Amino acid sequence: MSAEIERAVELLRAGELVAFPTETVYGLGADASNPAAVAKIFAAKGRPADHPLIVHIPGVDHLDRWAREIPEKARALAKAFWPGPLTLILKRQPNVPDAVTGGQDTVGIRVPGHPLALELLRAFDGGLAAPSANRFGHVSPTTAQHVRDELGDSVAMILDGGPCQVGIESTIVDVTGEQTRILRPGMISAYDLGKVLGRLPGMGNDNAPRVSGSLAAHYAPATPLALLQPDVVIFAVRESLAANERIGVIAPMACPLSDERIVWRQISGEAAGFAQDIYALLRELDALGCARIVVQKPPQNENWRAINDRLQRAVAGSGFSFGG
Ligand code: TXA
Ligand code: MG
Repeated sequence: MSAEIERAVELLRAGELVAFPTETVYGLGADASNPAAVAKIFAAKGRPADHPLIVHIPGVDHLDRWAREIPEKARALAKAFWPGPLTLILKRQPNVPDAVTGGQDTVGIRVPGHPLALELLRAFDGGLAAPSANRFGHVSPTTAQHVRDELGDSVAMILDGGPCQVGIESTIVDVTGEQTRILRPGMISAYDLGKVLGRLPGMGNDNAPRVSGSLAAHYAPATPLALLQPDVVIFAVRESLAANERIGVIAPMACPLSDERIVWRQISGEAAGFAQDIYALLRELDALGCARIVVQKPPQNENWRAINDRLQRAVAGSGFSFGG
């Protein structure tokens, strides 16, 4: 075991917070069996105490420690997608602290697909409650530096595992009922799940437990953000220039104009590449003090569902609405 992992495990056993990389976004981890440690997560994030947390485990062999009455379809999904960006909502074991579940009878669990996270979890030999390592309502961090910028001193240690490969949060699937439901879309799509389940899952749930990622305004930068069709992007740019304002643009095409007031960042036209980079780019442009940020609206199909979900919430959270 590396000295770094050893130190992280010591801190976690002592009830401290350790931020760690996952394949989706960086997590802010605490010993999930220690309510006092879990309470520190809510304090550091400024997150409402009744929002439940995901328990990260090293492997499916730990599943029964946290969940009970695990249905066959949950085992099938775990087998197909773990380690990976899938969170299963299951009935909880009685020993899971209320601080983790928000007092609900269910618990969210996943095995993250990142070597450093798995090494940490194996060495810890337990579950780590970990939300995304950002302040409540902000954009999730995809590098260790993002975590430092945002949480700094409120974390005992930050493990650096490089930039996250997936880039947006896991798909959350409720498998407690007859009908399997996606509570939060992610890069594992309804089709991917359907192939394993033999039928497509439903979306959302009228009686949905609290999911903070489902708040309309979430994942938001501070700069006003607009999502615009490709042909409208350039009009928005000209409008900003006419007002002598600095504008940030995130789009797959190259910048067609040359002007130092335009901060243009090209992004992949493929969903996987787009997801990987979008949060870091939003953070970068947010920090540059642009009057506004424009993101070219991605295709509206199943491949892009999770990305469109996050972008819409980012727009709502930034308090800006502008056609497109
Ligand atoms: O990719 C991810 O899921 C990242 C990495 C760090 O694993 N984590 C993450 O955590 O996005 P967080 O706390 O930012 O979002 C987790 C979501 C929250 O919206 C929470 O309400 C929901 O999962 N959740 C957790 N337990 C739940 C439960 N028992 N029932 C319904 N939703 C639950
Ligand atoms: Mg979050």
